Amino acid sequence: MYGHVDEIDQVAMNGWHPVAQAELLTPAQPSSTVLLEERLTVTTNADGSHRVVRDRDGRELASMSAYQTLWACLGEPDGPLFEVPQVDEPDRRVLHAGTVGVHVSAPRAVENFLDMAHFPYVHTDILGVEPFTAVADYDVHVDDATNDLWATDCVFWQPMAATTSTTGQMTDYEYRVPHPYCVLLYKTSPIDERKDVIALFCQPVAADRIIAHMFLCLLDGTNSTGVIRDFQQTIFGQDKPILENQYPKRLPLDPRAETPIRADRVAISYRRWLTELGVTYGVIPAA
Ligand SMILES: [Fe+2]
Repeated sequence: MYGHVDEIDQVAMNGWHPVAQAELLTPAQPSSTVLLEERLTVTTNADGSHRVVRDRDGRELASMSAYQTLWACLGEPDGPLFEVPQVDEPDRRVLHAGTVGVHVSAPRAVENFLDMAHFPYVHTDILGVEPFTAVADYDVHVDDATNDLWATDCVFWQPMAATTSTTGQMTDYEYRVPHPYCVLLYKTSPIDERKDVIALFCQPVAADRIIAHMFLCLLDGTNSTGVIRDFQQTIFGQDKPILENQYPKRLPLDPRAETPIRADRVAISYRRWLTELGVTYGVIPAA
C-alpha cells in the first residue's frame, strides 16, 4: 500500500501507539486508520469503550484510552504507557489539539520537536525571532529508573510562547522522550510557576509516514479550546513542510551520517538512545 515494507522491530510491534483522537470516536460510526502498515477498524460501544480490530484477520488488538487519545498495540504490550502526572492537576486544560498526516518518519518528527534552533526561522515572531537565534548549552541525560531521555536547562527567547503570552519572555524548556515515537516538552508558563506540557505522539502509519497527534496539558484558564487548538495547529502547520522536506525521511542513526553541531546534542543522544533500544522502524540503523 505504501511501497517498500520495512521490517517492524519488536519495540514498535509491542509498544503502545496512538490510533485515534478519542473525542472524535462515536458509537454511530466505526473509524478506520493505519498503524505500522496494518489497516485497523475502531468501533465504539454505547458505554464509550472501544474495540480496535486488525482488518486483515479480524484480530482484536490490545487498546487503551489515555491523554484524550486511543492507543493500540499490534503485538504483546511491553508495559504500561508512560505517565504524565500533570493531567491529574484539576486546573489544567487537558486536550487533544488535533491530528495531522505528515509524510515523514516518526523519529524525524521527534527530532524536529527536540530542536530549538529552528524556532526563529520556522516559527518567526511566535517561538523565536532574529537576532535571538543562539541555542545555549543544556544538559542531556537518560533517567536510570524510567530510561526516559531528557534534555534539561534549555532556554530560548520567545516573542509569544503561549496563548497566555502578553509579551516576549525567556522560556525555560525541558524535553522528555519516554517512547521512541513520542516526545513531551515542559515550558515556562507566562502566568503560572508550573510549566505547560506540550506533547507530540506520532502514530507510525508506515516507516516514512505518520499521523501526528498533538496533546496539550496547559495552564490557561482564559482562552477557548478553539483558540488553544488554533495556536498549536498554526505551529505544527509551520513544521509540516519542513518535516516533509527532510531527506532521508527515515532518521539515520549512524552518528557520522549528519554533521553534528553543539545544538544537536539532544538529537545525537536521541539517535544513540534509539539504537540502544533496538529501534529499526522509521530509521536507517547504524552500520
Ligand atoms: Fe517546530
